[in-house]
Amino acid sequence: MKMLLQVRQAAMLPWYAAQLFTGTKSFEQNPVIASRRMNQWGLHAARVRHAYRLALARRRKLTRMIPADDREAFDRDGFVLRPGFLPPQQFAALLDEIRAYRGPLRETAEGDTVIRKIALIGPVLARLPTLDAVLRSVAWRGLIRYVGGRNTEPMVWVQSILRHARPGPSDPQAALHADTFHPTVKAWLFLTDVAEDAGPFTYVPGSHRLTAARLAWEQRMSLLARDSANTETRQGSFRIDPADLPALGLPPPRAFAVPANTLIVADTFGFHARGPSAGASLRVEIWAYGRRIPFLPLAALLPWTTAALGWRSVVWWKIGDLREAAGGRKNPWRQRTGGSAFDPAAAETPSPGRGSPTGHNKDMRDLDQMPPEPRGEPAPALSSQTQV
Ligand SMILES: [Fe+2]
Repeated sequence: MKMLLQVRQAAMLPWYAAQLFTGTKSFEQNPVIASRRMNQWGLHAARVRHAYRLALARRRKLTRMIPADDREAFDRDGFVLRPGFLPPQQFAALLDEIRAYRGPLRETAEGDTVIRKIALIGPVLARLPTLDAVLRSVAWRGLIRYVGGRNTEPMVWVQSILRHARPGPSDPQAALHADTFHPTVKAWLFLTDVAEDAGPFTYVPGSHRLTAARLAWEQRMSLLARDSANTETRQGSFRIDPADLPALGLPPPRAFAVPANTLIVADTFGFHARGPSAGASLRVEIWAYGRRIPFLPLAALLPWTTAALGWRSVVWWKIGDLREAAGGRKNPWRQRTGGSAFDPAAAETPSPGRGSPTGHNKDMRDLDQMPPEPRGEPAPALSSQTQV
């Protein structure tokens, strides 16, 4: 059996090697990425360094997309914070729309947290015209494109985070981490107030920069990741102990207790987490992420619309349903109909996938619970990303 496994791995070697040039990050699923010898020679550190340099070059091409003060804030902190992002009337209209919307949605679990998503396909956006206008606005697009270093649309959902909503282990995204080995963007336009003890987004200011100390930490982690006790670290989303931040020259994490209508756009190569929630809580947000192949120098390639990207979610979820119906593993994304982003946790909460101590299966780790990224800019095969 062991010999068969070795033969299979040898046959797959060219495929694993080719993945070095993509966003693939799993130390558990790719023996080349996980190779101790290669990482002693600096393989992981070289990927980190090269991807970072390219991301900075792509951002430089997009500097005119955002105001100078936002650019300075981002370059210093790794995030842009915009309280009162929308004019009050527009925000009120957006809130009314999302509150009134009932339709198909999906739910999954991360530990004791329930994640709910509404995919923004064309018919959904047609019922949410204010949201559609926000997603087309210069301010929204500019910030996400600059931080992401790509002049392309991100994937966007209406997302609800329900903390302590089901029995289960603690939320794996509550641990401080980097999503992946290269700069990448996520954005949150909060539709609800977020209290400091109700699971706020948390970020270590300045941790998006690849300093010599960070690179040395990446090198050390690359030698430990494959055998880490932490599932997400093995999957390439390295966790960091807050006690280790000072050694990297970094300050303590900052928790963003913010009012509704605050936008945060962050590079989640920086260390971040879903902050603790003292009790059950509901956070509703417009949530976006953009992650493409990190080794492409171009800032833009094929255009994808928000609606087309929304369909990718729907198709991906349907494939999971079909696989389950055919006797395959359970789709961790459970369909609900007629639900609202603001509904409390259902009595029947989604069950996590099998096989992981944190309760997600391997498709879900690091959220990556997401459909594959758009091709054209070719993308990692089943990328994941935490949704913190
Ligand atoms: Fe994350």
